[in-house]
Amino acid sequence: MATIEWMDSFSVHNKTLDDQHKEWIKIFNRAHGQMMGEIPEDDTLEIGEAALIEMIKYAKFHFSSEEDYMKKIGFPGYEEHKRIHKAFTLKLDEISSQIQEGTFVMNSEIVKVIENWLIDHVLKEDQKYATYSR
Ligand SMILES: [Fe+2]
Repeated sequence: MATIEWMDSFSVHNKTLDDQHKEWIKIFNRAHGQMMGEIPEDDTLEIGEAALIEMIKYAKFHFSSEEDYMKKIGFPGYEEHKRIHKAFTLKLDEISSQIQEGTFVMNSEIVKVIENWLIDHVLKEDQKYATYSR
C-alpha cells in the first residue's frame, strides 16, 4: 500500500478546494505512515486512531466547503454528490464511534478503504463539478 502523490490531473480548477485536497492527502499520508508501522508498535494503535480522527474531521470540513462551492456554481449534480458525501460520512462516524467505545480494530483494510475512497472522490466525483465549472 502506497502513499498518495498529488498530480495535476487531481485539480478541480479551484485553488481553495485543490488546497483542501492536498491537505487531505497530506493528512492521509501521515496517518498511513503511522498506521503502517513507521512508529513503535506499542504506540501504533493510539497514534493511528488519533490520525484517523484527524482525517475524519478534515473530511467533514472539506465536504461542507465543497458542497457550498457546488451550490454556488449551480452544479446540477449537487444533490447526488451530497448523497455520496453523506454515505461516506456515515462510515466515518461509525469508525469514530468505535474508536470512542474502544471497539475499533485498526487494520490495513480500513486504510485501504479510505485511500480508495479518497482517490475515487478526487479523480472521479470531483471532476464532475470541475468540468461543469469550466
Ligand atoms: Fe473533494
